[in-house]
Amino acid sequence: MSKKLEKYDRLYEQIAGYVGTTKDIWARLATIEAVLHHKMPAFFWTGVYVLSEGELVVRSYQGPVACQKLKAHTGVCWAAIDSDQTIIVGDVEAFPGHIACNPKSKSEIVIPLKDREGTVFGCLDIDSDMEGAFDREDEQGLKKILGLIFEV
Ligand code: SME
Repeated sequence: MSKKLEKYDRLYEQIAGYVGTTKDIWARLATIEAVLHHKMPAFFWTGVYVLSEGELVVRSYQGPVACQKLKAHTGVCWAAIDSDQTIIVGDVEAFPGHIACNPKSKSEIVIPLKDREGTVFGCLDIDSDMEGAFDREDEQGLKKILGLIFEV
């Protein structure tokens, strides 16, 4: 197993230890964001956008102040929601329609969040101030951690 996946596994165990005291998914997501943001040095902004009346609205996050609302069907978060796929962007400047909440963000990973029935209700969005910070191992490690929204 790679060093990166080993680290995600350690964070999974740590987060599993924290989130078991409540089944509230927003508390669990906030804790996931806090741990990831403080333990992964490349993470510059770590947060969640949620669908509300057809809009994507910020819910909880760690990092600099970000856009409250994302223009519909534009940018990386909407691309993840609309395609129901993880989107990894190595260079945000090269992504058509990318929404720059902070000019320091250089690369980004967005993973759709689904409820127990598999319906997408929002997304986890992580930005880095370094280009090319994310790959499929991040997706794998992060998806396992996101499973903790409903488990333990
Ligand atoms: N860059 C995102 C907007 C959210 S910020 O990264 C916090 C996008 O293009 O959807």
